[in-house]
Amino acid sequence: MEKRREVLLTGIKPTGTPHIGNYFGAIKPAIEMANSGEYDSKYFIADYHALTTVQDAKKLKQFNQEIASTWLACGLNPENTTLYRQSDVPETFELSTILHNVTPKRLMNLSHAYKAQVQANQQQGKDNDTEVNMGLYNYPILMAADIMLMNSNKVPVGQDQRQHIEIAQDIGQYFNNKFGKTLVIPQALIDEQVATIPGLDGRKMSKSYGNIIPLFGTEKELEKLLKGIKTDSSLPHEPKPLDSSVFQMYQLFATPEQIAEMTERFKSGIGWGDAKKELFATANGVLTPLRDKYNHLMANPDQVEDILQDGAKKARIVASETVDRVREAIGVAPKKLFKVGFDATTKTDKEAGKC
Ligand code: TRP
Repeated sequence: MEKRREVLLTGIKPTGTPHIGNYFGAIKPAIEMANSGEYDSKYFIADYHALTTVQDAKKLKQFNQEIASTWLACGLNPENTTLYRQSDVPETFELSTILHNVTPKRLMNLSHAYKAQVQANQQQGKDNDTEVNMGLYNYPILMAADIMLMNSNKVPVGQDQRQHIEIAQDIGQYFNNKFGKTLVIPQALIDEQVATIPGLDGRKMSKSYGNIIPLFGTEKELEKLLKGIKTDSSLPHEPKPLDSSVFQMYQLFATPEQIAEMTERFKSGIGWGDAKKELFATANGVLTPLRDKYNHLMANPDQVEDILQDGAKKARIVASETVDRVREAIGVAPKKLFKVGFDATTKTDKEAGKC
């Protein structure tokens, strides 16, 4: 019998337009992992997580569309990875509600994201609860629900999400201790070596520093931004440092042969202007096919929607099984009794003759 593959799951929060740092730091490695075939991979757009901060329907819609198109354009293959939108899987919110009841409030008090907001409030002499909505406070519970709903074994995330995974483990253990072994306890998959991607000013590329290069800006924008990368004042013929942002960025896009050649040119002295020209040509060569695919998907939202709907159907099969199991464990009405087909539509009051 074929060995059951482990479930690999991650959530992508749609809070902004993806940049080159996101691509090399998260998107590319996650897609490579999914495409390796080693796992049963499930990637979803965590739009209810975004709701803690993105409270503008137009923006959230736009970000959802951009994120789905980005991942597909970058090579996510819906044939081997279930791609869905969290808001299409209502079982998530049922499990989340259930998990609220085994989560000690103390655990939420310790969550970094919440604590950071409280600290910022204190520094500004504001009340502790300023800007803290219950979505932020309960954020780790919703995340635990996302993860355990799909029986996830491995959760690839960045360092900043380590605590959230630990909280999910705790919540899962609390549940299992109380109600019997029902939930699969997940493990974080964190790449410690992930390179820091330099932004325009040499600091880590980050939206909060305002130093980003959008992944799918136009060719002209890309050229202009790459030319604007901060450099030192060495003269054109002088050796250039290999730890410069220009070289670091070049390395991300280039092949090993190109890197070897460029290393020599840096050592023997290449003008910053020429180096940046090479950087643009190489980066643009890599990004053009992805950008074309992205633009195509953005212009054809129905194609993306079909993929997401398909993903949601697959996700809901697993989700329903988990919720059935959990309902049974806690002793509420079994969901099975109410099972309707996923595409069953409810009659409107008018059709039902009520008006
Ligand atoms: N909190 C994650 C982030 O900000 C996104 C996320 C939501 C997630 N649910 C998840 C990640 C479940 C992994 C698993 O990046």
